[in-house]
Amino acid sequence: MRQAMASAECGDDVYREDPTVRRLEECVAELLGKDRALFVPTGTMANQLALLLHARPGEEVIAGKSAHFVNYESGAGGAWAGVQFACTRGELFTADEVASLVRAPAYWLPRTRLVGIENTHNMGGGRVFPQADVLAIAALVRDRGLSLHLDGARLWNAAVATGLSERELAEPFDTVAVCFSKGLGAPVGSALALPAFRLDDALRLRKMLGGGMRQVGVLAAAALHGIDHHRARLADDHACARRLGAALAEIAGVSVAPVETNIVVAEVAKAESVVEAGKRHGVLFSAIGPRAVRLVTHLDVAGARFGAAVDAVVAAFREAVDA
Ligand SMILES: Cc1ncc(COP(=O)(O)O)c(C=O)c1O
Repeated sequence: MRQAMASAECGDDVYREDPTVRRLEECVAELLGKDRALFVPTGTMANQLALLLHARPGEEVIAGKSAHFVNYESGAGGAWAGVQFACTRGELFTADEVASLVRAPAYWLPRTRLVGIENTHNMGGGRVFPQADVLAIAALVRDRGLSLHLDGARLWNAAVATGLSERELAEPFDTVAVCFSKGLGAPVGSALALPAFRLDDALRLRKMLGGGMRQVGVLAAAALHGIDHHRARLADDHACARRLGAALAEIAGVSVAPVETNIVVAEVAKAESVVEAGKRHGVLFSAIGPRAVRLVTHLDVAGARFGAAVDAVVAAFREAVDA
């Protein structure tokens, strides 16, 4: 990846003259089956662009519980797009629940404009959104004249886990955000895939958000390398996560949520003590609640190194649980 970055051909992408960025955008659009894709610095910006493109201030967006663009983007949806959110009871949801949240057409109610789905779901422990539900929600969205956005920061993982292509998973959506900086291992970068007629608006909005970048072919080259070389190997991350989950489940006082992709969520009596013990054993993971710990497997701790990492995590959990 470093070599690909070093030898990347660059131009000024604000003038749309960076050949490597254009190649990345064309590659992502093709992979996701959309007309166009726009390179952006972060997944947050990709999601925020989507909210700005789809909705106007005062409108409402239906999203899953703990959705990233609701909870972990510093309130940007309210600040920049001026939208408010109606959230479902769980991270995954059905068309019936969406139907119950769509507002009636009264002028004193907010207008529902958009439904957002996260796949895989980060705070849902890397769970895959069932495709049958996606299709039923998409049918409802079309029927009600709404739009559908996919936060596919980890869509690559969903593709590997389901055996469906990214294109099949993306097909029902109007816009799709993907990240190169997570499982694919690039240092930075995301993209928003969208219909051709929205590209000019998206370019303008990206510039307004400070996301118009110059000679970033070096970054696009990293993303292309991740797409070409690190997608299929996500299956290894998933296998590592299952192995880690199984090892943790054997410890008394630890309960582990079902592992579907590269994220393991474990419940313990005191999450912070386990995180601190992890640091002492040289492994970093986070507390996502007073009793919940989230661990992510990735390409930097894989292969032969993974066995030692599992031992360190197990030792940390035991130390904290026994304390
Ligand atoms: C589901 C999801 N969407 C969006 C993002 C935002 O990505 P970034 O950190 O690149 O802004 C994240 C980050 O963890 C995420 O998990």
